[in-house]
Amino acid sequence: MANREVHPFLAGMEMICAETPTPPTAITVFGASGDLARRKLLPSLAQIQQRGLLHEQFCLLGCGRTEYSDEQFRELAASAIRENSGNGPLEAPPAFLEKLYYLRGEYDDPSTYERLKTRLTELRKKHGIDRCDLFYLSVPPLLYETIIEHLGAAGFSWKGDPECHRRVRLMVEKPFGRDLRSATQLNNVIAKWFEESQVYRIDHYLGKETVQNIMIFRFANAIFEPIWGRNHIDNVQITIAETLGVEHRASYYDQSGALRDIFQNHMLQMLALVAMEPPNSFDADQVRDEKIKLLRAVRPFVCGSGDLATGNPSAKCRIVRGQYGPGRIGGGPVPGYRQEGGVAPGSRTETFVAARLLIDNWRWKDVPFYLRTGKRLARKDTEIAVTFKEIPHSLFGSVGLEQMPPNVLIFRIQPEEGISLRFQAKHPGSKICIGTLKMTFSYKDLFGMEMPEAYQRLLLDCMLGDQTLFTRFDGIEVTWRLLMPVLEAWQNHPSGPAEYAAGSESFPQADALVEADGRQWRRLGET
Ligand code: BG6
Repeated sequence: MANREVHPFLAGMEMICAETPTPPTAITVFGASGDLARRKLLPSLAQIQQRGLLHEQFCLLGCGRTEYSDEQFRELAASAIRENSGNGPLEAPPAFLEKLYYLRGEYDDPSTYERLKTRLTELRKKHGIDRCDLFYLSVPPLLYETIIEHLGAAGFSWKGDPECHRRVRLMVEKPFGRDLRSATQLNNVIAKWFEESQVYRIDHYLGKETVQNIMIFRFANAIFEPIWGRNHIDNVQITIAETLGVEHRASYYDQSGALRDIFQNHMLQMLALVAMEPPNSFDADQVRDEKIKLLRAVRPFVCGSGDLATGNPSAKCRIVRGQYGPGRIGGGPVPGYRQEGGVAPGSRTETFVAARLLIDNWRWKDVPFYLRTGKRLARKDTEIAVTFKEIPHSLFGSVGLEQMPPNVLIFRIQPEEGISLRFQAKHPGSKICIGTLKMTFSYKDLFGMEMPEAYQRLLLDCMLGDQTLFTRFDGIEVTWRLLMPVLEAWQNHPSGPAEYAAGSESFPQADALVEADGRQWRRLGET
């Protein structure tokens, strides 16, 4: 892309792509000095401001248990923004930093919420904000219910007051519960105080540009929908592979594992976007209705003890788990999961899940969807690969079917976000000389920048009152319902996850899942 300014795709896009600026907003962030606030929220807000989208009438009140003055919190925010802004260091301007404030308080103390009320009233007045309140729960999930109960009891949600409640929003981070029962309990607490239209449940994958692009790609082009289904597609593989290990999150992750941490949310959301029917419009509820309808059609897992003992599951229980052992990543040794700080020595928590899903509807009957996610794998690679059926017959004499691999369409989510299509073409030279080519569209080449952080999109949408990229509770419920038999079987069965060496791509049980159908996993990073 020699000259980005004149590329036809970019020319004249300003009008269509213009973003709507936010209304006047006061954000309260619970857990404001924590990891998520420092790595994602504060830098994303600063970038929204840098893009000219944050209303002048804005303030952020950080709330936490650590003692900070407003000035100290601004210093913390300035360095968090400098260190964590995707497209190079960003110096937050004083005009932005001056709108950040801090309130120390215990989350279970009613007086915290009384002081919060007084402080928010003062700040709204000072910044001319006529009640548009956003409350962001950036705290460990254990604290969600406590904070929501207190917010509700102190009258922050304005439930029942149709004029005011529309302008009050609650952002809840994942994980939303750790099983069906706890998710329902959390939702009941939320529903006691907040209307569903006020609740923004985050799955940050839905804020990624390339994930949103799945819908645009499918429903803004006429050529894909007619071939999008069992008549033309052989299988779909969805991969979230990370090189990172458990890092400093063992206290959370060891109680969670890959099924709860990634599979229940990010993976199933991507599955829903790839496989759902076209919604009637890009309206939040219509999109969510279609995703949920699709998830309801996923065939349930039925796992007996034999499935788990042999690691060679039956057709009804095509899901396996692994845990990384010691190995090598990037040329250096790395410890196994059980040797990581904070992990229980005999931990049976899975760090890899692979599954074969079937969708019982007309479009997808008998098309396998292979899903895998793992930590400490050979490469970072998040992609959706749609493999089409083989051509039925080769008419090119000496060139057999095996030399003409099926077409594959790849949505690459990260790294190197883009889309590519593999197809055959004539090679210059002899009359029948066929080669496999790849046509690639890369976001970075075209736009010359890193993709905006997903949290920018999600914060903007929440301030604008658009719930399309947030999960509704019935959507969360259906995913827990699907996974409960697996969680229960894994918990009750004495055998734990299979071990794979850190730095590997897979392990035999995961491979067997795909090989049983005569197929193979794509190599990580394969183009
Ligand atoms: C989070 C998980 O939701 O997603 C992490 O809790 C995981 O364990 C992360 O590392 C992956 O997100 P991304 O955007 O880096 O692919």
